[in-house]
Amino acid sequence: MKADIQRATEMVAGQLPAELYRHTVRTRDYALELAKRFGCDGRELERIELAALLHDNCKHWQTQRLLSEAKALGYAPSELERCVPALLHAKVGAHRLQRDFGVTDEVVYSAVYHHTVGGCGMVREARIVFCADKLEPGRNYEGLDELRARAADGLKELCRAVIASGLNYLMRKGTPIDTATLDFYNELVMEQSGG
Ligand SMILES: [Fe+2]
Ligand SMILES: [Fe+2]
Repeated sequence: MKADIQRATEMVAGQLPAELYRHTVRTRDYALELAKRFGCDGRELERIELAALLHDNCKHWQTQRLLSEAKALGYAPSELERCVPALLHAKVGAHRLQRDFGVTDEVVYSAVYHHTVGGCGMVREARIVFCADKLEPGRNYEGLDELRARAADGLKELCRAVIASGLNYLMRKGTPIDTATLDFYNELVMEQSGG
């Protein structure tokens, strides 16, 4: 996996537009910070680093390219993704991992696949990338510092708080909500209540 990380580091530096590259590096650094805080080590840290580096590998693509690559990769967009095609960069980005970056690790795939809206069955590497993407130091929105501080309550609480903040934002904007986010929220709540 070390060779994959090296290749991914070069790819993001060479292929991503400047601002997206900076967000990617900040997300990686913040994800590794969270990972150490939550006691991850060894292979977990490598998976987190690789997933964070590649999470937005096609975020800069235009709608048409995302749609045509989804088709080429055999991914059928949901109704919501057809309505908000920018969401597709997570699914298309995950499907590209093997073909375009030679990355076959299933946890890295899941972390990239779920990084935008979340979903059920995410192991902690994927959950950390999900949170880091929304909390990295380049982000700027109301309540962000309070949100970051929730890390003190553990990863599940942090995920719950990040989801709640995201839902709140989407509802205020009047944007549709992916039901995968609600499934993720329910999974976390049921884990916490021991259900
Ligand atoms: Fe993204
Ligand atoms: Fe991102």
